[in-house]
Amino acid sequence: MDKYIAANWKMNNDFSDIEGYVDYLNENLDNKNNVVVCVPHVMLKTFADKAEGIVDCGAENCYYAEKGAYTGETSAKMVKSAGAKYVIIGHSERRQIFGETNEMVSKKIDAALAAGLKVIFCIGETLEQKPEFETILKTQIVEGLAGISDFSNIIVAYEPVWAIGTGVVATIEDIEKVHAYVKSVLKDNFNVDLPILYGGSVKPENSAEILALADVGGVLVGGACLKADSFAQIAKSR
Ligand code: PGA
Repeated sequence: MDKYIAANWKMNNDFSDIEGYVDYLNENLDNKNNVVVCVPHVMLKTFADKAEGIVDCGAENCYYAEKGAYTGETSAKMVKSAGAKYVIIGHSERRQIFGETNEMVSKKIDAALAAGLKVIFCIGETLEQKPEFETILKTQIVEGLAGISDFSNIIVAYEPVWAIGTGVVATIEDIEKVHAYVKSVLKDNFNVDLPILYGGSVKPENSAEILALADVGGVLVGGACLKADSFAQIAKSR
């Protein structure tokens, strides 16, 4: 199976970027399998319509309630109906800036799966937590995936928080070590073998080496995905 190449626009780019971005990927990527671009909710429908049959579209978040008085929130069903196939859940920015707990992440995963979305479930330790990364990651995984019986639509993304947007990439040895650990936690606790993406300052200069690792199932790219040419170079490096 082709490794995943996932983009996370975060709160960047706008409607005027969509057409050129998708056209560029369409013209420059021979292999578009498992290429996913996650965009802000407001742009989902436009992006998904434009990208149909080219690359997959994803959301960066969703809320866990089905509907109701949750001003400003977007349900998983709405995300799905806008044309998204994927949704990122539990990104470290959601956890750190918006106070998302493992329990909220777990509820969001349930809601996303129920809506028929594929989930990119993010885990990662901060710099302060690095010495105890095993405990932190295990808790995030075990609590985040609690109660799930069908794992076929779940992809994990390991993103060390200290490597996100900082230009600091985890070393190849770090990535190998932590991915092997995450794999063992998934096996021991849920008896599953899921794709594990790496994220954190991935760029065209380092993506081939990271994607060559056996336990790396793909990459989740922030800063270097904002321009289509740089994202395409990463996709071509798999
Ligand atoms: P970065 O972001 O590539 O800019 O480090 C990755 C992410 O947060 O998903």
